[in-house]
Amino acid sequence: MAVTNQTARLVVLISGGGSNLQSFIDACGGDNSDLDAKIAAVISNKPEAKGLDRASQVGIPNIIVDHRAFDSREEFDANLGDVIESFAPDLVILAGFMRILTPNFVNRFIGKLINIHPSLLPAYPGLHTHQCALDAGDAEAGATVHFVTPELDGGPAILQAKVPILADDNASSLAARVLSVEHKIYPTVAQWFCSGRLEMKNGQAILDNQVLGQTGRTFSQDGER
Ligand code: GRF
Repeated sequence: MAVTNQTARLVVLISGGGSNLQSFIDACGGDNSDLDAKIAAVISNKPEAKGLDRASQVGIPNIIVDHRAFDSREEFDANLGDVIESFAPDLVILAGFMRILTPNFVNRFIGKLINIHPSLLPAYPGLHTHQCALDAGDAEAGATVHFVTPELDGGPAILQAKVPILADDNASSLAARVLSVEHKIYPTVAQWFCSGRLEMKNGQAILDNQVLGQTGRTFSQDGER
């Protein structure tokens, strides 16, 4: 499943602003790119998603699969899956894609489907993660990149980045600090996958032939190689 002898093809799913998408666009660009991959398509379930403009500006095919056009979650997911497959991706990247995915969809792409979640999983799956961390009086917050399994935000963790929580933080100041590290760790994980270093096997994340623990690898600001 891992790609080692050709440029990997990414499909990125978004619902909103697309700042993580932008980090992939930037990482894939230029001669000294950090990510040896091509974004084959960007797909949004929301026509108004700002991230679609980011894709258009650099000529990446972008498609809207509006969930409101379907009678059921299953129908939406089946259609979405067909659109994704038409781009023959090696890796499918959920980048702020705000739909819960059915087990059928997840199992169709299992092992090549990753997500970024704005908390230090397993803490705070689901929504409102930053407010949860503030309410709990935590000293640190962060983000986790993980393989997707049918359990919401429950798949094996790959890479986690931590940021401090400051005394005067609110949910939006904390979200901004977390986003800035999301933009570093997400393309890093994609590069691990695309270079054949990372895989999911038997429900575990494996990097360089080592099984990663419950919270995955911890990001170091000195650079993650
Ligand atoms: C990020 O915080 C990500 O962790 C979460 O949704 C947000 C997407 O932000 N899954 P953006 O659209 O990439 O700016």
